Amino acid sequence: MNCVINSGSLYETSSYFYIRKSEVRVKYYGLIESVVLSFLNNYFKESVLAIVELIDVKKVYPLGKTEVHAVKGVSFEICKGDFISIAGPSGSGKSTILNMIGCIDVPTEGSVLINGTETGGLSDKNITELRHEVLGFIFQSFNLIPVLNVYENVEFPLLLGKSDMSKKEKTDWIDMLIEEVGLSEWRNHKPNELSGGQRQRVAIARALATKPEIVLADEPTANLDSVTSEAIITLMKKINRDLGTTFIFSTHDPSIVEVADHIIKLRDGLITENYRHEDSRACGSDD
Ligand SMILES: Nc1ncnc2c1ncn2[C@@H]1O[C@H](COP(=O)(O)OP(=O)(O)OP(=O)(O)O)[C@@H](O)[C@H]1O
Ligand SMILES: [Mg+2]
Repeated sequence: MNCVINSGSLYETSSYFYIRKSEVRVKYYGLIESVVLSFLNNYFKESVLAIVELIDVKKVYPLGKTEVHAVKGVSFEICKGDFISIAGPSGSGKSTILNMIGCIDVPTEGSVLINGTETGGLSDKNITELRHEVLGFIFQSFNLIPVLNVYENVEFPLLLGKSDMSKKEKTDWIDMLIEEVGLSEWRNHKPNELSGGQRQRVAIARALATKPEIVLADEPTANLDSVTSEAIITLMKKINRDLGTTFIFSTHDPSIVEVADHIIKLRDGLITENYRHEDSRACGSDD
């Protein structure tokens, strides 16, 4: 819900609140108070909708006697439920940024906030919990466990942390994910019996196993042909719409970049463009 404050009357029209001075009366104090509280609630809800925020983030890697300035001061916000591409040529800083959002790496300067919490201030235990409960990862090289079949690979993240699901709920959930990525027939097959596209589908299902709010995918289509790449991005977008999972993926493939709702383009560690498609959901809207 968006909140609009004018110097005007107090009434509700669908999802908007307006305040008009002329109709403010002493007898409405209670009502005014509740509207002010409603405004504050909505104001803070809107702020929290930035599920990821980077504030002037820099990353310097030492390299022998010199330094590599991989990210040179980057700020952006990502809204809950969005489908975002981080695009740019090789060496522009895409993986470095994803790794900092995923708490795999830490900024040299600046802040990374997830759900309003600065990750730099978290303990190792809290980082582990965040990575297990809030974040899911999809890698360019799939990173499946070769000795485990499709079901067991998808189940694997659930064995690493605590889960509230009963055994039956867990089996149903994993089977639902395998069905969602179109691999029910391959449930008991090992990764070496699957194509590249099928392996990446397993990796997507595995990333979703813990029901993360955010999935980070570093060049998820880099090892796939163009038709399979498109199918994988379409699948990620379907899951984004169906489950409301925020997807942040990096790519240097121009045909995939524009499929996203929100596009952040990088060059030499800096943002060159940061825009949304006009037909995409506005940040903070309910539908
Ligand atoms: N661990 C590291 N040590 C030193 N330099 C690094 C390290 N990781 C990345 N870099 C450097 O930082 C810069 C950005 O690297 P990054 O991997 O983020 O780029 P990228 O956009 O993901 O590129 P690609 O498309 O090739 O994956 C590059 O110049 C890279 O060489
Ligand atoms: Mg990279």
